[in-house]
Amino acid sequence: MATSGMRSQLAQETRRRITFLGICLAVIGLVLTARVGYWQLRGEPARNVIVGRWNGYHGSTVAGASLGGMKAMHPIGGLPIPGVEHVAQPYKFGEGFGEDEETFYARCAQEIEDRILAVGPENVAAFIGEPVQGAGGVIIPPASYWPEIQRICDRHGVLLVSDEVICGFGRTGHWFGCETFGFRPDLMTFAKGVTSGYVPLGGVMVGDRMARVLIDEGGEFNHGYTYSGHPVACAVAVANIRLIQQLGLVQHVHDDVGPYLAEGFAKLRQHPLVGDAETCGLMGAPLLVQDKTQGTTFPDALAICMVCRGLSFPEVYEPALLSPRLYIGVNTTFMGEEGYDGRGRAHLAVKWDEAGRQAFIIGANPGARATTVELEFPWSVAKVELLDWNVPRFRPTERVEVRNRKLLWTFDRDEGMLMRVTPLAAPAGSDD
Ligand SMILES: Cc1ncc(COP(=O)(O)O)c(C=O)c1O
Repeated sequence: MATSGMRSQLAQETRRRITFLGICLAVIGLVLTARVGYWQLRGEPARNVIVGRWNGYHGSTVAGASLGGMKAMHPIGGLPIPGVEHVAQPYKFGEGFGEDEETFYARCAQEIEDRILAVGPENVAAFIGEPVQGAGGVIIPPASYWPEIQRICDRHGVLLVSDEVICGFGRTGHWFGCETFGFRPDLMTFAKGVTSGYVPLGGVMVGDRMARVLIDEGGEFNHGYTYSGHPVACAVAVANIRLIQQLGLVQHVHDDVGPYLAEGFAKLRQHPLVGDAETCGLMGAPLLVQDKTQGTTFPDALAICMVCRGLSFPEVYEPALLSPRLYIGVNTTFMGEEGYDGRGRAHLAVKWDEAGRQAFIIGANPGARATTVELEFPWSVAKVELLDWNVPRFRPTERVEVRNRKLLWTFDRDEGMLMRVTPLAAPAGSDD
């Protein structure tokens, strides 16, 4: 897929092989296939059962909806398919209200082990989960939860599958959610963030333990899709990953905007209608509840998130899902007062690539009025390219340029953008 440097950085020890699929939905089917193939080759063909979690989400295909635990999806098509078991999700407000935190989360992990023992470890192939349940309401477990699951899987020889379709590629403040939560999956599915959603691409990373068996003993992996490894999608992924690296976006989420979001959410927790407001990197979901003292949620029929439409939350039930672009800026973090318009409106961040040969500007003006900012660069003349912007009428034009070391930029209301600035040779006769 990528250059060897990129590949080695992303696919470290435990994730040696990557299979790219043209589309994301195929990913979970491949997980099913791989687990069966692996255990057959290992001489334990009875290991067929996969344990997932209630309210987990792994897509809408037969495989995905079966492994997922969204009950409303199951009656359609007689799902789940045989060989899938579901256990409790770590949703404290909904399923452990009033219970001591430590006891509740330990109980959730223990349920996995109890189910493995009930089914018989010799029949269990894998456990699958999203590091943070995304579609299920951004359910963020404590640091102790995943390492405990790892210990349980290791104890019973069960494969661990991390569905990183949402958490992968920086969302949680590390490249992958399993790094944030400290576990080592045998399989990792990924999609959205690999191309930042610009074109569809999904894939499965296979850890050493499985890869060795599947390749050395299995030979050809006879499984594929029409659009597997589509070169256009892979090229977009390479460009996207390069940009994530150049911009230092994972670090940006970890060090800057993630803590900033967490700080904001901490204030929300005081609100009488907010039952919980945890964040993980750049994802979170204030839980809107009827009575936080009694643990009562609103009836589904009220569609409570409709009330929040002005804030453009998607309409789910009580959690108001939030997952902003990774490159949103935090005012003044990088530029100090120079890059800030002083009236508290335009938020700017400037990142230099390691060699200082180009800079990226991330900016947004959430205010209601236009505002102009002035940025200074070490180059007298530079090319400015707009890589992304959120204003449909807007086109990259000549009006954006660095002249005499300065870039003047007028943000219209609600405008946000990402620019790359690269130096050009100074015109003959200039000072440089
Ligand atoms: C965690 C997770 N896994 C799998 C999927 C399935 O992806 P697709 O909708 O492309 O099938 C999704 C989709 O949102 C997801 O969030």
